[in-house]
Amino acid sequence: MHGRVEEARALIAAARQVVVLTGSGISAESGIPTFRGAGGLWKGMRVEDFATPEGFNRRPLEVWNWYTRRRAELEDSRPNSGHVALAEMQRHVEARGGSFVLATQNIDGLHQVAGSTGVLELHGTLRTARCQACPRRQPMPAQPADALPPCPDCGAPLRPDVVWFGEALPEDVLIAATDAASRCDVFVSVGTSAVVYPAAGLVEWALSAGAKAVEVNLEPTPISRLVDVPLHGKAGEILPQLVPEPSQ
Ligand code: OAD
Repeated sequence: MHGRVEEARALIAAARQVVVLTGSGISAESGIPTFRGAGGLWKGMRVEDFATPEGFNRRPLEVWNWYTRRRAELEDSRPNSGHVALAEMQRHVEARGGSFVLATQNIDGLHQVAGSTGVLELHGTLRTARCQACPRRQPMPAQPADALPPCPDCGAPLRPDVVWFGEALPEDVLIAATDAASRCDVFVSVGTSAVVYPAAGLVEWALSAGAKAVEVNLEPTPISRLVDVPLHGKAGEILPQLVPEPSQ
């Protein structure tokens, strides 16, 4: 394992363009449960109930209030050493004139709190709500409601600003992530089961363009056999070891 960590760090230290894709595993050490870790239930709800348009249409207020509770819990969540290491890695790569793109499937915003910039949020964010009819976005409340709040601009009901199963990802964000993956020399996948497309396809874009790939995950995933350097362990322990030394 030590040799592989060194290998991954050397790849990152030498890369001109680095792309990192994160999933819910990076926030596990901040106390936020992963999606597929708890027998299909996430804080007492099935994914189909809270993460699909059909679930929202069936029980809009219940789903809205499920997200207000998640928003409230974020107040107590702090970035962990994995988030912090990725922010440091970005500073390192950019300081030597390279490009660093962090794409995340997470909606918790902890990368930005840790200092990462330009984060591509593939699945939206828990920090804002958006209007179902017009472009209005505003902060997501942390208090439960008695009715879906109306949009202050047009009066249509608001909804969480997240991407649900069956919905399209924000086009500009997906294009930026795909473009970056197709140009990078090193792609790092962190804490994702790598089964939800199109995010899971980013590593394939990178590999087919000739990039080296590193995976950091507690356990093997469908992409472990494809990557050059699979690293199995906790993101919060491994990622700090991948940040190049200041002189590298
Ligand atoms: P998953 O729950 O599918 O996968 C989490 C991954 O993190 C697993 O492979 C775990 O082995 C790994 N893991 C857990 N703890 C870890 C740790 N401390 N360090 C490193 N790895 C760890 O979550 P995602 O891959 O993020 O989409 O799920 C992808 C998408 O499916 C989510 O964004 C969400 C979900 O349904 C939507 O809601 C659209």
